[in-house]
Amino acid sequence: MVIPGPASLKLGRRIADLLEVKTVPVEFKRFPDGESYIRFDGDVENEDVVIVQTTSPPQDERLIQLFIMADNAKDQKAKSITLVVPYLAYGRQDKRFRSGEAFSFKTLVALLDACGVNRIITVNSHNPRILKTSRIHIDDLSAIHLLAKYFKKKGFDGAFSLSLGKKALNIAMQANEVLKGGYGCISTHRNRITGKVALERENLSVANRNVIIFDDIISSGGTMIKAVELTKAEGAEKVFAACVHPLLVGNSKEGILKSGADEIVGTDCVPSSVGVVSVAPLIAEALAGRGV
Ligand code: R5P
Repeated sequence: MVIPGPASLKLGRRIADLLEVKTVPVEFKRFPDGESYIRFDGDVENEDVVIVQTTSPPQDERLIQLFIMADNAKDQKAKSITLVVPYLAYGRQDKRFRSGEAFSFKTLVALLDACGVNRIITVNSHNPRILKTSRIHIDDLSAIHLLAKYFKKKGFDGAFSLSLGKKALNIAMQANEVLKGGYGCISTHRNRITGKVALERENLSVANRNVIIFDDIISSGGTMIKAVELTKAEGAEKVFAACVHPLLVGNSKEGILKSGADEIVGTDCVPSSVGVVSVAPLIAEALAGRGV
C-alpha cells in the first residue's frame, strides 16, 4: 500500500493509481509551534508499505515528517518499508569538502536506517557513487529520457543536448539517445566558500541550433543562468532549461527566463510551477519490479 506524504500527495496518489493499490491517507497538521502531527488513517500491520515524500525545501521539515512516517510504520509492524524520495535532500553534501565539515548525507541515511527503512527509491541523485556506501539499498532512477521525450513531442527532435559539469556528461548522453542531435557538456567550478559557480568556455557547435540544457537540480539558478548566457553567446537559436528537480529558490525562475531561456521544464519530483513531466510511471515501474 502507498502512503502519500504531505509533501508528495499528488505524486503518491498517481503512483498508487498506476499500480492499482490502496492508499493510506495521512492525517497531517501543524501544531501552533510549527511541529508536525502525523497519523495514518488505516492499518499497515503486515503490509508492504511505500511512503512517498519528497524532501525539497523546506527540506528539514519534510525530512522530519519522513522520519516520523517511517518510524510510525515500523511501530505499527509494517512488513517492509520502502521510501520513495524523488528528491533526496543533502545529496550535495556528499563528503567533507573542508576539514571539520559535516558529511550530512551520511547522517541522513543513518537516521532512515534507525527508522527501519528497507529500501529507498530516488530520482537522479546528485552523486550516485555515494549511494553505494549507504546501509540501505537505494535505487537511483533517471528521468532524463522523460524530459527529452517532452521536447521531442514538442517538435525539438534533433536538438543539441547539453549538460553541466564533466561528471554529468552521462546526462547529456541519455538525452541524446532520445533527441539524437549531438551532445556535450560545459565544465563548472564552484567556490566552496562563496558558493559561486564559474563556467568554462568550451568549443560547442551550437550556433543556429536549438539547445536543451539538462541539469539534475536548479536551486539558486546561478549555474543555469550562466549556461544559458554562454549558449546564447555561442549563437544558439532557442535555448531551453530542463531539470529533474526544479527547486527554483527565490527569483531564480525569472532570472533564467531573463537570461534568454525560452522555457524552463521540470518534473514533478518536487512541487513547482514548471513540473510538466511526471515521474509517476517511472517510479511505478520500479516498484512493480520492471524498471530497475
Ligand atoms: C551541481 O553540481 C548541480 O548539478 C547543479 O548544477 C547545481 O546544484 C545547481 O545549483 P544552482 O542552481 O544553485 O546553481
